[in-house]
Amino acid sequence: MAKPSILVTYKLPSSAIAPLEAVADVDVYRDGVLSRDELLKRVRGKQGIVVAALDKIDRDVVDAGSDLRVIANVAVGYNNLDVPYARSKGIVLTNTPDVLTEATANMAMTLILAVTRRIVEGDRLVRRGDWKGFSLDFMIGSDVQGKQLGVVGLGRIGRVVARKAEQLGMRIAYHNPSARAVPEYTSMSLDQLLATSDVISIHVPLSPQTKHLIDKTAFSRMKRSAYFINTSRGSVVDEDALAWALREGIIKGAGLDVYEDEPRVHPGLLTLENVVLVPHMASATAETRAAMYDLVARNVVNVLTGKPPVTPIP
Ligand code: DGY
Repeated sequence: MAKPSILVTYKLPSSAIAPLEAVADVDVYRDGVLSRDELLKRVRGKQGIVVAALDKIDRDVVDAGSDLRVIANVAVGYNNLDVPYARSKGIVLTNTPDVLTEATANMAMTLILAVTRRIVEGDRLVRRGDWKGFSLDFMIGSDVQGKQLGVVGLGRIGRVVARKAEQLGMRIAYHNPSARAVPEYTSMSLDQLLATSDVISIHVPLSPQTKHLIDKTAFSRMKRSAYFINTSRGSVVDEDALAWALREGIIKGAGLDVYEDEPRVHPGLLTLENVVLVPHMASATAETRAAMYDLVARNVVNVLTGKPPVTPIP
């Protein structure tokens, strides 16, 4: 039987490619982000494809990849894949849950502390040469201990964020759009959570139901002293509304890892001091990325050798 072929859309390290090469011919795209035309061309004749967040695997790509048996996402989020359509063609879809939970939760915690303690703002000020010396009323931030963290989406990552925030002395409230109850924490309606939380952290996947879940009305419900954190997907939030809320003092600050139209960042956010902006890097640690690559390779190899995938998309 002919060896299968796999397209890998990113320049993954050789340690990630080696297990794939043991079972297939591997075509690795090494020149940055694969263009749509190149993706449509290269997916033809492939049995497997390894993709990441910026690769949009829609009907056209699935149709072009008519030999595909597995689509493996190097991410836990899979809003970049047309899951029902690919499934209808008999393709197995996989993602990389669990291995990035701690790293992503740590990024949420980092953003919470960075924005409440004005870390990036302070760093910018020092580098500009604007520091005039210690003063008791200078760079006053907010404590987190004794405050309420509202977790929107208490799934794998949200739970770890809740656990870490408890260690910092925060009270935890949550809203689960899936209605799944977590007895150790206080469940609230979204409106109640938005109105009573001091820090709000988003951990829901992007879907038609969660697109712009946090809009102008949602920001208007929040406390003026509230901080807003997003490490899930940019489009869960209406960025125009977020820029407005930060500019007008409707909320106090924000920390963002994800954006609606990456790598573009809303221009209204770029000029504000009260928002910490990082470039979609919540899972970007050497250890976590190595674990993601290992998992993605095991998923692809399993499917192409007739075994069940380790982490199929549910
Ligand atoms: C994820 O795993 O979903 C990260 O956001 C990387 O895309």
